[in-house]
Amino acid sequence: MTVFPRNTGLVFALAQLVVLALASPPTPHIVFVMVDDLGYNDVGYHSDGSAIETDNIDALAAGGLKLESYYVAPLCTPSRSQFLSGKYLIHNGMQHLVIDPRVPRCLPLGDDTMANKLTDAGYATHLVGKWHLGFYKQECWPLNRGFQSFFGLLLGSGDHFSHNYTDVGSGRPNAKCGQNFVGMDLRDDEVNVQPVYEDQHSTTIFTERAQSIIRAHDQNEPMFMYLSYQAPHLPFEVPDEYFVSYRGKINNRNRRTYAGMVTMLDESIGQLTDTLKEEGLWNDTVFIFSTDNGGVGKKNAGNNWPLRGVKGNYFEGGIRGVGFVAGPLLSTNVQGTISTDLMHISDWYPTLVEGVANVTLNHTELGLDGVNMWDVISQGESGDPDREIVYNIDPDMQRPASIDSKYDSYAAVFDISIHASIRRGDMKLVTGYQADTDWLAPVESGFASVYATDAGKAIWLYNITADPTEQDDLSDSMADEVVDLLGRLQSYYTGSRFEAPANPGIDCDSDPALYGNLWTNWE
Ligand SMILES: *[C@@H]1O[C@H](CO)[C@@H](O)[C@H](O)[C@H]1NC(C)=O
Ligand SMILES: *[C@@H]1O[C@H](CO)[C@@H](O)[C@H](O)[C@H]1NC(C)=O
Ligand SMILES: *[C@@H]1O[C@H](CO)[C@@H](O)[C@H](O)[C@H]1NC(C)=O
Ligand SMILES: *[C@@H]1O[C@H](CO)[C@@H](O)[C@H](O)[C@H]1NC(C)=O
Ligand SMILES: *[C@@H]1O[C@H](CO)[C@@H](O)[C@H](O)[C@H]1NC(C)=O
Repeated sequence: MTVFPRNTGLVFALAQLVVLALASPPTPHIVFVMVDDLGYNDVGYHSDGSAIETDNIDALAAGGLKLESYYVAPLCTPSRSQFLSGKYLIHNGMQHLVIDPRVPRCLPLGDDTMANKLTDAGYATHLVGKWHLGFYKQECWPLNRGFQSFFGLLLGSGDHFSHNYTDVGSGRPNAKCGQNFVGMDLRDDEVNVQPVYEDQHSTTIFTERAQSIIRAHDQNEPMFMYLSYQAPHLPFEVPDEYFVSYRGKINNRNRRTYAGMVTMLDESIGQLTDTLKEEGLWNDTVFIFSTDNGGVGKKNAGNNWPLRGVKGNYFEGGIRGVGFVAGPLLSTNVQGTISTDLMHISDWYPTLVEGVANVTLNHTELGLDGVNMWDVISQGESGDPDREIVYNIDPDMQRPASIDSKYDSYAAVFDISIHASIRRGDMKLVTGYQADTDWLAPVESGFASVYATDAGKAIWLYNITADPTEQDDLSDSMADEVVDLLGRLQSYYTGSRFEAPANPGIDCDSDPALYGNLWTNWE
């Protein structure tokens, strides 16, 4: 008489298994959190004299894989362009600075972005947060670059509470058009929603939107969420509770606000992973956390100590990114470890499309520079120790005032007044104009910052493996290596494609006043 109930139990158990199996997507969900201007020393797990606390981020990273030789571009637009195109800046045309909202420029059209490929692979693709890849015509907008939904800002920064952006103080005076440009910049798909969210912090509204997308998601379908916070980018703005939590720990007002913004972000990361767990998605999720570039340094915002340099330059403080991968899909031998394999932000495209979504890509046809790192990340396989990465070659960047005549012989190989940087294996070469190259300590640490004495120089060579803080410039003692790497730069330079003109002029038709005080397309 026990047979019947046992069978029923078995059938029930099998039915449950089927339900569980059905509740998994064919390939994993991808949640990619990009944070804005977060410095190397601004996460708890890197803290060296910093008072900033990031408990949720630290716990996730501790259970995942910390990417400790992970490189990004030193600025917002360039990093995001490499992330979505899988190409180096010399191949996607975005080598020069960031997109000025008044300038007709965007990530060149025509090539599929990572979001297009993931859409083709059956993913529901969502962008929540900052775009900053151009909007002067609608073809450039996220919904036309592979994202099925968009909630966020088209520009690069705005007021965190009002979601308005003004070009006052942008560093490029607007005398040409006769007035400063001020406008709203918050969209739900294509609709202006600035009035709905005025007074709510960008971090709050992006987290809430991400949570509602997760709750509404059909679990049988794979999801790609690119959650691109505008925090802790300037302006310094945070709800008071986060500001006061650093009272007594950080006296400097800017730094205290910045720390509050990071902690608010950390709280959001906790809420996001809680929601993924509550909704039963977490076990099928590859969770990635990345900064877009190094900390600003000046004004006591982001901090990169003990690294050299800040956002904008090619010293490690500008480009060595905070990044990690987490989630139960990493093999157990990888969980809780550190990767020192060289990885570049352009790698995410093939890593996520091929490695996670299981779609074969023709790298040659697509012109990809990124490498599929999924086996390195998920299984702990070794990467290529001699890997070469071209960080950038930007001939339009301001040139050094004068270059020592002892470097004249290099001119035949590569013009070292060009702003450029390349890594090969242990070694990194930097050339051209590089500003703000000091070693800045967090103001609350009491450590003494170290100020660079080699301003006006135009060539540096470091063994980053031996000397990650770039104290020991080897460009004089290892001249052969310098010539070799300059030769590599030259061959990339002659093969580079400048698809987008480098910041053409300000177009007065971009003025939001012409469109109801809204930043929008004008072509
Ligand atoms: C934001 O811009 C809109 C449109 O000009 C304006 O109505 C609103 O008052 C602005 N909000 C703030 C806080 O400045
Ligand atoms: C997720 O995986 C853990 C550990 O294997 C398991 O205990 C849990 O039940 C799983 N959750 C879901 C929703 O499948
Ligand atoms: C990847 O796709 C191939 C077919 O292209 C299939 O044979 C294989 O099982 C898939 N792998 C995973 C892990 O889904
Ligand atoms: C990849 O694309 C290139 C260039 O279009 C083509 O020559 C090559 O045959 C393709 N490779 C495969 C495996 O399809
Ligand atoms: C760089 O430094 C590492 C660690 O000290 C050393 O093993 C390696 O040989 C050095 N590389 C070069 C090219 O000198």
